[in-house]
Amino acid sequence: MDIFKITGPVRLEGEITVGGSKNSALPIIAASLLTAGKSTLRGIPNLSDIAVMCKLLEDMGCKTVADNGDIAIDATTIYKPIGDYEIVRKMRASICILGPLLARCGKVEVSMPGGCAIGYRPVDIHLRGLQELGAKIELRNGYICATANGGLKGANIFLGGAFGSSVLATANVLCAATLARGKTVIEYASCEPEITDLANCLVKMGAKITGIGSPQLIINGVKELKPVEHTVIPDRIEAGTFMAAAAITKGNLKIKNCRTDHLMAVINKLRSINIAVEETQDGCEVCSSGNIEPTDITTLPYPGFPTDLQAQFMAVLCLAKGNSIITEKIFPDRFMHVAELSRMAANLRKEGPHIIISGVEKLIAAPVMASDLRASAALVVAALAAHGETIVNRVYHIDRGYEKIEEKLNAVGAKIQRQSV
Ligand code: EPZ
Repeated sequence: MDIFKITGPVRLEGEITVGGSKNSALPIIAASLLTAGKSTLRGIPNLSDIAVMCKLLEDMGCKTVADNGDIAIDATTIYKPIGDYEIVRKMRASICILGPLLARCGKVEVSMPGGCAIGYRPVDIHLRGLQELGAKIELRNGYICATANGGLKGANIFLGGAFGSSVLATANVLCAATLARGKTVIEYASCEPEITDLANCLVKMGAKITGIGSPQLIINGVKELKPVEHTVIPDRIEAGTFMAAAAITKGNLKIKNCRTDHLMAVINKLRSINIAVEETQDGCEVCSSGNIEPTDITTLPYPGFPTDLQAQFMAVLCLAKGNSIITEKIFPDRFMHVAELSRMAANLRKEGPHIIISGVEKLIAAPVMASDLRASAALVVAALAAHGETIVNRVYHIDRGYEKIEEKLNAVGAKIQRQSV
């Protein structure tokens, strides 16, 4: 079990490069199941979640070879279209094999994802969307068992839920519809850049999709798809995490391989709290005077402010000159980091889906516990500015979504040690 020892406060300065997007790579790796043959995916980050997804595919009979950011996937043989509990319990995103396998094999069993630290996460929208395409679905011994005898059939599907669109439900239904007979219209589809990347990849495989990037996706089913070579988009959440790190440390970071067009809500928020953001050829430069203004943030589906940056920006606003309010509209209980930031002398108060943040002069180092991927990123961001040595426990959470984060941050002035305990 690794921990981080982080000494602060530091000032970050220099160039830092963003890796490929985890949340784009996962559904795209699953989409390779839609066709026989060998696909090559590039720019894939070296993360434990990616390794879990590859294990899932290998368990079914596929072959995967990872090499320096490329993954070759041969999905010719699928002798067991099953997502085993022992693998799915490690990563909820395993659910995105459901649509591709149903469309390709006409049957699939996937362990139902269980509880999650960020809150209640049902999969009803996934199941509803696939049932509208003609799938028969039942739950057996904790497994979602879906069949489509005679194949799937196109339909008009409303995919909205209580919290708006669903990213991975859109991915599942979009993939399934590519091989369904006839036309499918998905209303209230997720417009996240990761879904656009998936749709662009599917089009390269021969799928017929229009409305990409909009809440209405139109798919005309085809008989078969072909293998693909595709480079995934940069990780906007990793980029946003580095922006928060620059903001909280009075830093100056040149963030490379960053798509600023995917981060407009975040850049707008940074500028509103007195953080300078200059767009550059391959990214942006973030410069902080340390005089952070307070603000209100409400998380929303894309292009709104991403919930996956809520925790990191809460850490930044802990040092703002005044009171801020964060409202979490996607995962109303996604506040595991609040108690840990309070241990670092932050002044935080919870009121329903809101956190009231009263800015403090400084954060104080303390031993803290990571609980989920983005909460742990927020603790690292806070520790960079905190006075003293912070111990972040359960670093495995951060390794799920950030490739060698301590090396990247140390290269621009952080003092992070990884230790096994
Ligand atoms: C994706 O999860 C991301 N994961 C999450 O990132 C991200 O937080 C989330 O989208 C929102 O942006 C991946 O891409 C692998 P949703 P997903 O379905 O698709 C409710 C990270 O840190 N809902 O868009 O599972 C749900 O409970 C991870 O990298 C239903 O009610 O999220 C939530 O309140 C964490 N029924 C809301 O919709 C459903 O069937 C949005 O969830 C599905 C979702």
